Amino acid sequence: MTKKHSRPVRAIAANVVLDVSAKGQSLSRALANAQQQLSRPAESALLQEMCYGTLRWFYQLDAVVASLLNKPLKERDQDIFCLLLVGLYQLQYMNVPSHAVIKETVNAVLALKKSWAKGLVNAMLRQYQRNGTDIRDSWGDDPEAEYAHPQWMIETLKQDWPNDFLQILQANNERPPMVLRVNRQQMTTGAYLQKLNEAGIKAASQAFNPNAVELEQACSVFDLPGFKQGHVSVQDAAAQLAAPLLDVKAGMRVLDACAAPGGKTSHILELTYDIEKVVALDIDEQRLVQVRENLDRIGLKADLLTGDAAEPDKWWDGKLFDRILLDVPCSGTGVIRRHPDIKLLRTPDDIDSLVKRQADILDAIWLLLAPGGMLVYSTCSIFKQENEQQILAFLQRHADASEVSIEADWGKAGLAGRQILPGKQGMDGFFFARLKK
Ligand SMILES: C[S@@+](CC[C@H](N)C(=O)[O-])C[C@H]1O[C@@H](n2cnc3c(N)ncnc32)[C@H](O)[C@@H]1O
Repeated sequence: MTKKHSRPVRAIAANVVLDVSAKGQSLSRALANAQQQLSRPAESALLQEMCYGTLRWFYQLDAVVASLLNKPLKERDQDIFCLLLVGLYQLQYMNVPSHAVIKETVNAVLALKKSWAKGLVNAMLRQYQRNGTDIRDSWGDDPEAEYAHPQWMIETLKQDWPNDFLQILQANNERPPMVLRVNRQQMTTGAYLQKLNEAGIKAASQAFNPNAVELEQACSVFDLPGFKQGHVSVQDAAAQLAAPLLDVKAGMRVLDACAAPGGKTSHILELTYDIEKVVALDIDEQRLVQVRENLDRIGLKADLLTGDAAEPDKWWDGKLFDRILLDVPCSGTGVIRRHPDIKLLRTPDDIDSLVKRQADILDAIWLLLAPGGMLVYSTCSIFKQENEQQILAFLQRHADASEVSIEADWGKAGLAGRQILPGKQGMDGFFFARLKK
């Protein structure tokens, strides 16, 4: 076993922020690597909180650093810049005594091997501790700092949702709830709530979503009663709306065309007995392993296939499907509260290429749907280009497609499909459209 160096948790957090903001790594990957470096596992939650929080407020904290520094730090000192962000995040948003924040953050400078920066970090954090309110007031009309989002995203949201964009920006900066889906093949929602209660875990059900249970406080899945036995899965309430929309009946053939990690595949199987076949396809072989693990945990079976949904010739056996779920790759702008790194990693160019990829997948997969069959298109995006406009363009291209409107007590109907905005009814931002052949 390799001996762990005892690097201070704040230095590790600064490196995670650097990996995401300067090297374009995803937060989940950077954090998973960083957790390995912790000498004290008890600091895992603290590390996670600092990394998520700093990235959530990145654009705001960046503006604070800019106003405190006489000139920007050099390229090679971006780790110190990130450490400053981590320090400021704790002072502003965490319940840690200021003197401890300053002392520990200054100490982390040594682990980054930049002892010259001790004075700088100390002075800047102290200045913020004294004058934080004035500094924040000095932003004036800088929307990136005020809303903690990149300018292009603020503008797209303003254009798409002129009446809602302020609420969206605010909801994106909130901490998401932990929501479970009760496996109704194994127990009722009421019975599971009872089990949670007995385990001392406070939770409530949702009126419009019969199997969803929201926890008052997030916890490890291993503390959840019956998790290993498949009684519950972790899935936001919005994502739990996809499988019921498919309206699968016994004897049907179902394709889940972008399946990994399998949250919706397993929900489809939980909802209906005697489905003839469920094919779970994904382009990413590694991610399909997660589908297998999820299905095994719950005790469900599907045919797993690695392949490109836009190129069915390479994997399809020629038999049509009665139902298809197309949970396409998207910008993820509906789940920013769960993945704050999206604000830093996405670019406007990504959106254009995603929209093209989604259209290619839609066109190719449509050929696999049986006449009379139904396809549910879903994204965790809130950009109209990927949602309503994507579906309107699809309907223009395909005379054999018609929309089946979704009447529901959640979300709002658009020119096509139904959109949930982030935070509404406690849910993630999601879009759904139903298409019939
Ligand atoms: C939004 S995620 C799906 C989430 C999944 N439906 C669930 O509920 O757990 C999108 C998935 O699409 C996969 N993907 C991306 N491009 C694809 C393609 N061309 N063909 C098939 N899968 C693709 C990604 O690997 C990713 O796992």
